[in-house]
Parts: sequence; structure tokens; C-alpha cells
Amino acid sequence: MKKILLMHGPNLNFLGKRDTAIYGSCTLQDIENLTINMAKNLNYSVMTFQSNHEGQLIDYLQKYSNDIHGIIINPGAFTHYSFALHDALLDTGLPIIEVHLSDIKKREPWRAVSVTSAAAIKVISGKKEEGYREALQFLVEYIENDHHK
Ligand code: DQA
Repeated sequence: MKKILLMHGPNLNFLGKRDTAIYGSCTLQDIENLTINMAKNLNYSVMTFQSNHEGQLIDYLQKYSNDIHGIIINPGAFTHYSFALHDALLDTGLPIIEVHLSDIKKREPWRAVSVTSAAAIKVISGKKEEGYREALQFLVEYIENDHHK
């Protein structure tokens, strides 16, 4: 069974408690469950990982990128300034979809910039938890069509 990594960056462990008007009312567990369940129907398995620490996200990517076929990541605020996470994502050589619950283009100006998205084949922003469904569908089709970056 092919495997996807669903990765979340800082503060996303607090989903459900954060501003629900901006991020929706799903908890991280809800988002992980909906992705895992949808993946099951597509015959894929999902590994999940969340950390508030940049280095832990990078270590995880370096450790597990050989075991997986693609990545869905919401890097949280690291999106806007972590060149190290960008490089680690790029180094995996895997297809990556970047997801944001909120529309990062319609908030503070500093949020409109994503330095990590250059490593992604697609960015989905502003669709709350629905963005993860769209990301998984797109990623699985991409992998099944055997595209290479
Ligand atoms: C976020 C947007 C980021 O700007 C923010 O720092 C987050 C969540 C989103 O999902 O909308 O933590 O990535």
C-alpha cells in the first residue's frame, strides 16, 4: 500500500481552540481522521506528524521520506519564513501539496508570502478542512499518473 505523510507545523495541535472563524472548528485529530479515512478508500495509508519545532519537522522528513510517496503539509507560520523547511521538503524529491485552512492571501501582508510553496506542486488555501480532501485527491491522482517533478 502506498503511503502519504500528513505533516503539520506549529500551533496546529491547537486547532479547535484557535479562532474558529479563521481556521474552522475541526481539531487536528478530526483533520487527520478525515484524511486517513479518505485515503483508505483510495487504498493509501497515511502517516501523521505534528511539531511546534522546525528541526523536528526537518528530522522527520529526512528520516521517513524514503518510506513515502507524497506529502501533504500545513507548515503553519513556518510557511512564511522557514527556508530550512523549504529545503528539507525539496530534498525529499517527493510530490508535495501545501494546505492552509485560512486564505493566507487575504490576511496580514506578511502571511501572503509562502517561502515553502516553491517546493510544492500545488497550494490549497482558504478552504478549511475541505482543502485536505482536495489535496489528497490531487496528490493520489498525481502519484498514480506517475508524474515526476
Ligand atoms: C495556516 C496559516 C498560517 O499563516 C498560520 O500561521 C497558521 C495556520 C492556515 O492553515 O491557515 O498557523 O497555515
